[in-house]
Amino acid sequence: MLKKQRSAFSALSGVGDSPHYPRIVVPPPGPKARKIIELDQKWASPSYIKEYPFVMAGGQGAMAEDADGNRYIDFMSGIAVSSTGYNHPEIVRAVQEAAGKFLHICGTDFYYEAMARLLEKLGTIAPMKEKCRVFLANSGTEAVEGAVKLARSHTKRSNIIAFEGAFHGRSYAAISLTASKVKYRADFGPLLPGVYHLPFDNPYRMEENAALESAERLFHSRVSPKEIAAVIMEPVQGEGGYVFPRPEFLKAWRKICDENGILLIFDEIQSGVGRTGKWWASEHFGIDPDVLLSAKGLGSGLPIAAIIAKESVMTWPRGSHGTTFGGNPVACASALKTLELIEDQYMDNASVMGEKILKGLLKLKERHPLIGDVRGIGLMIGLELVKNRKTKEPARQEMGRLEQEAFKRGLLLLGCGDSTIRIAPPLVLNSYDVDKGLEILDVCLSEMEK
Ligand SMILES: Cc1ncc(COP(=O)(O)O)c(C=O)c1O
Repeated sequence: MLKKQRSAFSALSGVGDSPHYPRIVVPPPGPKARKIIELDQKWASPSYIKEYPFVMAGGQGAMAEDADGNRYIDFMSGIAVSSTGYNHPEIVRAVQEAAGKFLHICGTDFYYEAMARLLEKLGTIAPMKEKCRVFLANSGTEAVEGAVKLARSHTKRSNIIAFEGAFHGRSYAAISLTASKVKYRADFGPLLPGVYHLPFDNPYRMEENAALESAERLFHSRVSPKEIAAVIMEPVQGEGGYVFPRPEFLKAWRKICDENGILLIFDEIQSGVGRTGKWWASEHFGIDPDVLLSAKGLGSGLPIAAIIAKESVMTWPRGSHGTTFGGNPVACASALKTLELIEDQYMDNASVMGEKILKGLLKLKERHPLIGDVRGIGLMIGLELVKNRKTKEPARQEMGRLEQEAFKRGLLLLGCGDSTIRIAPPLVLNSYDVDKGLEILDVCLSEMEK
């Protein structure tokens, strides 16, 4: 199995045993990159973040190349999106074939094979025991928005429970549920009423049961559980800091939902589609949701998202929810091929490579006091930086500096939470990529600790 994977990767990256990356031929951003940045900055909305001046020009497998020919090992896959790498030949072929047939017809009003097949595939790989139905959207945010509508329509209740540290997107319903950083909500109010935020279990920073006690207090003093339509939760928080809760936390919420007729919605937009070595992160906890949301890695970069719900829950009537572009035929073709590749090879690879990265990071932790915690499943790994291991004070500036130091040396990283580096590479990355990436991390941390 592993041999098959390795040959597939070297064919993919086209680099055999001596990959021509990482390589920095000109300190980034080089002259071509600077020109593009200048043009962008003249016209772009100031709301864009732009983490550091990486200007993408190409990529292959888990290698990304910038406009000046610098090559990087990619440990972030455009925020957990490029699941099969940047130009997997089979994805490119599937997309080209679909584009050559027809680009659009509108799945809300008409039928086509790729959409029907994708609905079936997603319904089949859903973790729920009950038969599911599926709605296709364009983005994670849209899936969240639709799920809120579905929950209200199905339960005829309006209140929603979400969690501190959560990120669910940027529409009005989504920012109302989001609570990872205040900048996502500031000045945009009033937001959706009836949203209650509770603490999310964080084994590194919280006592057992502390998060659940807040739920008891909420139901005792502020709102009856019988008035709650849904609990929406990332089973593993992404933007909030790659936080893995204790399984008991998810179990307790499943129980509360069951006892009170509340829908449990799992937002697996970042954690799903094979990233953790199973289709869905929630499978590691053994807890099924009533509604599951997917996006990001589902289309290998093409915009597509899904609301997957138990048939008994997806009861909204004909015409109550729809979309012009959602489930676009080209995006469906990309998603179908993505799911096939992940099922055949890359889900296993995510487990094997994830284990390797985790072991490597734990070794780095022995030598680098900046590392406070290392946690992860498959290729969803958090590296939390602290100023002091005893106080666990987040090392916010150091996280930014680590991104910059790694960028200068040919490794793409992305932070999350207060001071965590999220390691979410393409699921196709190989042993070479892992070893080199860890080597660069080691050098950067040593430099920063001088
Ligand atoms: C868990 C989660 N939910 C929702 C979203 C929003 O998805 P999108 O940016 O595709 O709208 C994100 C995006 O980062 C996410 O990580």
